[in-house]
Amino acid sequence: MKKVRDHYFKKAKKQGFPARSVYKLEEAQKKHRFLKPGQIVLDLGAYPGSWSKYAAGVAGPKGLVVAVDIQKPGVMADNICLLQKDVYDLKASKLREISPYFDVVLSDMAPKTTGRKDVDHFRSVALAERALVLAKELLKPGGTFFCKVFQGEDLPSFRDKCRESFRSVRVVKPKSSRPESVELFLLCMGRKQHTG
Ligand SMILES: C[S@@+](CC[C@H](N)C(=O)[O-])C[C@H]1O[C@@H](n2cnc3c(N)ncnc32)[C@H](O)[C@@H]1O
Repeated sequence: MKKVRDHYFKKAKKQGFPARSVYKLEEAQKKHRFLKPGQIVLDLGAYPGSWSKYAAGVAGPKGLVVAVDIQKPGVMADNICLLQKDVYDLKASKLREISPYFDVVLSDMAPKTTGRKDVDHFRSVALAERALVLAKELLKPGGTFFCKVFQGEDLPSFRDKCRESFRSVRVVKPKSSRPESVELFLLCMGRKQHTG
């Protein structure tokens, strides 16, 4: 992950978060309030752990964050459960052993970038689609899916797939996401009850 030592990097250090990416989630949360105390949250691509730490802070002692990454997420808290796993090998049944349902699925997953915009875009969409499959299997009706994806030609079709399963889908570009970055986030709220 490329380190940008800007205002957000310094703020994250000061506030005890391992990465500046926490402010992308915080900004969406402040506006849309989809994380709530007592919730069960799945955080995909959780390393080094800023989103997990933030979500665990909101979920509180009655909630739980399941943090998944190929690399072992470094954050520790009583209400964070760490799973070192590739999402392509991760089965919903394994996650259901931890909790039968989830209120929120987060995905900040990003591929290792190659510098080739099209390749990076297609790999990012593949990760986002894997996250969507897990979100559809695990979210309870009404649940929320917040997912990073790189801009490119397959973004509209990914957004349409999200629309099939969620009542509202917003495209979000947080202020803390560098303007030159191709990343965007889809905030999908209201998991529909009867879609595949
Ligand atoms: C931008 S970082 C996530 C930062 C994290 N949200 C935070 O706030 O600390 C993207 C993460 O996606 C993870 N990732 C990429 N491909 C993955 C895969 N196939 N399965 C699980 N995690 C993956 C990477 O290992 C990396 O840690």
